[in-house]
Amino acid sequence: MESKLKVFITGASSGIGSALAEEYAKQGAIIGLAARRRDKLQKIKSNCETLGAEAVVTYNLDVTNEEESMNVAKDFTHLKKEGIDVVIANAGVAFSDGLSSGNPKQINQTLAINILGVTNTIVPFVPEMKKQKSGSLVIISSIASFTAPPYFGGYAASKVAVRRLGDTWRRSLKKYKIDVTTICPGYIKSEMTDVNEFKMPFLMDTDLAAQKMIKAIESRKKTYILPWQWRPIIALSRLFGQKLSKI
Ligand SMILES: NC(=O)c1ccc[n+]([C@@H]2O[C@H](COP(=O)([O-])OP(=O)(O)OC[C@H]3O[C@@H](n4cnc5c(N)ncnc54)[C@H](OP(=O)(O)O)[C@@H]3O)[C@@H](O)[C@H]2O)c1
Repeated sequence: MESKLKVFITGASSGIGSALAEEYAKQGAIIGLAARRRDKLQKIKSNCETLGAEAVVTYNLDVTNEEESMNVAKDFTHLKKEGIDVVIANAGVAFSDGLSSGNPKQINQTLAINILGVTNTIVPFVPEMKKQKSGSLVIISSIASFTAPPYFGGYAASKVAVRRLGDTWRRSLKKYKIDVTTICPGYIKSEMTDVNEFKMPFLMDTDLAAQKMIKAIESRKKTYILPWQWRPIIALSRLFGQKLSKI
């Protein structure tokens, strides 16, 4: 009998995280859903069960909590079948820097959730993957890691940081047959983008984005930018050393 994938996703209560969970549910996966909003997690759990997940467990988790993140990883590793196949560090926020407020709280929150949230999610699963000599680690960065969007320096910096973590972890973990895929989405429909009042170029539907992301993870892509239209734009801007300040 074919073994079911075991997938852990943070930020699974909405947007990209919930869409990824529902796509994996269609494959009959065993899924761990983590986020802070319990009611939303319960709804996604029930959707995943309806769509065919083998088992779904929810974790009420703030990804900035190191201790709790380790406990959750341990619990999920032992759930149903021993081990872990895919870990997706997706939780994130896009607060503006609040520079004029004189208070660094908001930018610090962005940096903490978006950077420490990734290390707290990924690192606790590494020993098990090393033992198995298999696994996929996935980091959700952003096209903002290639740009310099005004007022969102903390967000852009956090996404640069996690992309670089992915680049180094890929090299560190290659010998254990652990893949690291960094995904850099452009604009994808979600609670995060629903608040934007400007026209978002190449805005992509959430389910389609999740399907494409899963394909990229399955084909062990190193860095995956979507929608595709951003790839030439980013490549050209890097070639000419320009900062994309309007995106
Ligand atoms: N949508 C886009 O266009 C876009 C583009 C580039 C990158 N991204 C990245 O994609 C990821 C998902 O974003 P999204 O667009 O799907 O936005 P979203 O719908 O707002 O989802 C964000 C998720 O992160 C969770 N989260 C936030 N802070 C958390 C914390 N401290 N602990 C645990 N979970 C936390 C939220 O759940 P709770 O509030 O329930 O905790 C929610 O499930 C983010 O990393 C974002 O930066 C999105």
